[in-house]
Amino acid sequence: MLDVGCSDGLIGFDALEKIASGMVILSDISQDLLEYVQSLARDMGLLDRCQFVRAPAEDLSPLDNASVDVVALRSVLIYVSAKQQSFREFYRVLKPSGRLSILEPINRFGTDLFDQPQRFAGYDVTPVIDIAQKIKAVYRQLQPVDSDPMLNFDERNLITYVEQAGFGEIHLELQVDIVPPEDNDWHAFIGTAGNPNIPTIEEAMQWVLRLDEMERFIACLRPLVGSRQGIHRRAVAYLWAVK
Ligand SMILES: C[S@@+](CC[C@H](N)C(=O)[O-])C[C@H]1O[C@@H](n2cnc3c(N)ncnc32)[C@H](O)[C@@H]1O
Repeated sequence: MLDVGCSDGLIGFDALEKIASGMVILSDISQDLLEYVQSLARDMGLLDRCQFVRAPAEDLSPLDNASVDVVALRSVLIYVSAKQQSFREFYRVLKPSGRLSILEPINRFGTDLFDQPQRFAGYDVTPVIDIAQKIKAVYRQLQPVDSDPMLNFDERNLITYVEQAGFGEIHLELQVDIVPPEDNDWHAFIGTAGNPNIPTIEEAMQWVLRLDEMERFIACLRPLVGSRQGIHRRAVAYLWAVK
């Protein structure tokens, strides 16, 4: 099995636990993470069942054509710009009848709410709409929805990528949750970033708001967070396919 974007090996090590024999190729773009996962494999006594390959998802050239039975990845494509090329590589390295298994958050689903001017992070901030727009502009500039790899795809795009790559049998399950916020802790809320590539809400506020704007914004938003009067939207796609 090839674990693409393995990080600390959650998927690959779990697969080794489930099967008595077989090898896992742990691959990642980061040399630091590969060294770390190698040290974990050593500690767990699994070195003889692991290989370590430094390669980006979009260029798996260290691996031969038709050389693996399974390609698995989780939360990796959100970091990859060349998604179609990555699917071609997954197809290339799989043996005939080999299986592809992918789980990815569909971050774009959450942006529907983000795009409503009166909403900020799922809360209705109509009285301070102008201030909310200033903060949202920070995020939009850093991560344009149509071009940033975290946001520029949804489940339909995933199906197109996998079909275009040549896979014969394809399945996709979409899990959507539209729920009240789980947490009412203000400091946790402003100390959180929507994803690892953007500033926290507190940082974004400090970048672009005057002191009086910050006070007005907090006076509106904090009670809403405290009483969980918001809506959170999230979606994940689980896709599996056979070569
Ligand atoms: C959110 S982590 C997911 C780790 C692991 N798959 C899991 O589910 O626990 C994303 C991983 O993707 C790796 N990554 C980022 N860009 C990549 C690329 N272009 N090709 C392969 N891996 C990449 C990162 O180094 C990181 O290890």
